[in-house]
Amino acid sequence: MANTPKSFGRKSIRATMTPSSLMDEVPDLAGVWQARVITLFPDAFPGVLGESLTGRALQDGKWQLHTHNLRDFGLTKHKNVDDTPSGGGAGMVLRADVVGPAIEAANAHSKGRVPVVYMSPRGVPFTQKMAQSWARCDGVTILCGRFEGVDERVLEHYNVMEVSLGDFVMTGGEIAAQAMIDATVRLLPGVLGNADSAVEESHSNGLLEHPQYTRPATWNGRDVPQVLMSGNHAKIEQWRQEMSENLTQTRRPDLWAKRTKPEK
Ligand SMILES: C[S@@+](CC[C@H](N)C(=O)[O-])C[C@H]1O[C@@H](n2cnc3c(N)ncnc32)[C@H](O)[C@@H]1O
Repeated sequence: MANTPKSFGRKSIRATMTPSSLMDEVPDLAGVWQARVITLFPDAFPGVLGESLTGRALQDGKWQLHTHNLRDFGLTKHKNVDDTPSGGGAGMVLRADVVGPAIEAANAHSKGRVPVVYMSPRGVPFTQKMAQSWARCDGVTILCGRFEGVDERVLEHYNVMEVSLGDFVMTGGEIAAQAMIDATVRLLPGVLGNADSAVEESHSNGLLEHPQYTRPATWNGRDVPQVLMSGNHAKIEQWRQEMSENLTQTRRPDLWAKRTKPEK
């Protein structure tokens, strides 16, 4: 159906639900965190978001996912979405008069505080802090680029923030969108089984996480560190904190510097 977002959210739990049946069209649920993705490839969703914790939370209506197919906003009978770059050069650029109406359509569904972001290798790097801030909003609208990207004017007009998954270039924004939605959804209330895991894990407190071990106690001649088998919780806590600090100092001196010298 033209210009109708595909919704992956659910109103209630049904034991037989599979990720593909999350594609049923369901209305937005009031008070539920909404992810909207503007993409040329709506079939790439829910993708990995339909699995495990995020998939279960989607089925349980703890968050909702909608795609807006950029092709529906295409021009002429061929539904063209792109054109050659002004000034010449390689590739194609997504047109402002296609992306603009798609953003308008997504915004028309948004209620409350919903940042509009563009997946872009030029953007500010995505961080745990950003995931925490998006999780406190009512949702997020994500524009996925393709080709050489989108016409700059549309980003300026809608005050769209550019966000990067890292210093590398992918063919489209869909993988980045799934990564960022995943990192955000797991912070929503009730999504993680054990809320403490989100507090203790890497990047939540400016440190990388300590090493983890499980059974067997000895594997290939390597033992689980003795302190973890001691049952002494104070000692275990101290060991974990020290490991966490050592790892951060050696692997990520940039994070360590930020932690010891708070930003002005
Ligand atoms: C081939 S890239 C375009 C790269 C663009 N010409 C440039 O040099 O900045 C196509 C699309 O993939 C997405 N993309 C590529 N790398 C990304 C990254 N590191 N983070 C987020 N999105 C990315 C963006 O949506 C981008 O519009």
